Amino acid sequence: MKHILLFILFAAFISVPLASQAEGLGDMTMDSKIESMKKAGKGPVIFPHTRHEEVLKCADCHPKIFKEERGANDLSMMVNMEGGACGSLKCHDSVNAFALYVCDKCHTKP
Ligand code: HEC
Ligand code: HEC
Repeated sequence: MKHILLFILFAAFISVPLASQAEGLGDMTMDSKIESMKKAGKGPVIFPHTRHEEVLKCADCHPKIFKEERGANDLSMMVNMEGGACGSLKCHDSVNAFALYVCDKCHTKP
């Protein structure tokens, strides 16, 4: 009995940080290649992390497609168009999501 109570206490304790993470990481601004974007007349990318959490599993992206750290991935359209990052198999440029040529669904106005 004592063990069960201890377990419940422990579970309640660890579920607090887990629950707050489950609420999602929100929108992430991606602008490491801002100079190149400006030349192409595009603004920074807004990556809706929470939206992706809702339709995919963490392991669909981490760690194979994206390192789990903001700014740690060298992202570019070349990578996207060669089937990496956003352009990975079953992602953008497949029937599951809008295609890579719909620039303004990812890029804001400059
Ligand atoms: C569609 C792919 C995708 C899915 C699914 C996904 N992530 Fe991410 N995640 C990303 C990308 C992209 C970044 C930003 C990487 C960058 O900036 O280079 C990121 C960043 C992160 C970060 C770093 C946040 C920071 O501030 O540094 C954490 C932590 C993370 N993800 C955890 C998760 C967890 C937990 C889940 C599941 C609930 C998840 N991710 C699902 C793509 C995804
Ligand atoms: C699925 C989302 C997505 C779509 C659609 C998209 N991009 Fe991007 N684009 C990105 C991401 C992510 C980056 C890298 C962001 C960073 O970290 O700087 C990027 C970077 C860029 C860059 C700067 C880096 C480079 O590769 O030169 C340019 C220019 C660019 N995009 C142009 C475009 C154009 C033009 C289109 C439409 C034909 C387009 N993008 C469509 C997500 C997208």
